[in-house]
Amino acid sequence: MEIIVVKDNLEGAKKALEIIKEGMEQGAEVLGLATGSTPEPLYEEIIKSDLNFENMVSINLDEYVGLDKDDAQSYHYYMDEKLFSHKKFKETHLPDGKADDLAAECKRYDQVIEENPIDIQILGIGHNAHIGFNEPGAPFDGATEVVELTESTINANKRYFDHVEDVPTEAVSMGIGSIVKGKKMVLMAFGAEKAEAIKNTLEGDVTTDVPASILQKHDDVVVILDEAAASKLSEKTLA
Ligand code: GLP
Repeated sequence: MEIIVVKDNLEGAKKALEIIKEGMEQGAEVLGLATGSTPEPLYEEIIKSDLNFENMVSINLDEYVGLDKDDAQSYHYYMDEKLFSHKKFKETHLPDGKADDLAAECKRYDQVIEENPIDIQILGIGHNAHIGFNEPGAPFDGATEVVELTESTINANKRYFDHVEDVPTEAVSMGIGSIVKGKKMVLMAFGAEKAEAIKNTLEGDVTTDVPASILQKHDDVVVILDEAAASKLSEKTLA
């Protein structure tokens, strides 16, 4: 595991872009993408770059259940606005949170992942160390599922909604099992509110109570942190 501490999220985004660029030079064809505030500067850097994504497939981690694709709070909308309408990809995939048959939708999404093995997976992290929307307790070998969001996640994400009651309580999320099949993981975290989750992820036991802790077992992980997110790590971890 490589841990890179950067000055701020802009520097972090530039590092992540370098990793993507190198990966593409070495033949990466599938990029796993995340939402939330963490990857926003990365998407801005991708847009500004002259990198060509026309041969790249993207697969997003998750989508809220019940929101239309053109709902401003949906992850479809987020991705279109922040990346896809500015940079052309060969194919872009997100789960359909409005599918009539959500169980079938989860199966379909697993098929998409199976057919397009992820080369580089971009990850943010929740306050409770969730990845995608895999909340504490989610199985490490899980596939795409409809998941219930915890109160902590609903509270963290309410900033994007007018009222807390508007935050969906469920999501369709790639499972941890599918996420860690990706060849390379790039986990980014910025800000003091992520410091505890990062400490537990990198220094704690590997346990489903801390979903991101499974990354300790992956053989190709880069963690990009600002100083605040790295502030609870021991010198040994940072050495
Ligand atoms: C959501 C997303 C996660 C993301 C997390 C952190 O719950 N499903 O993929 O990592 O939020 O968001 P932020 O980057 O805004 O802190």
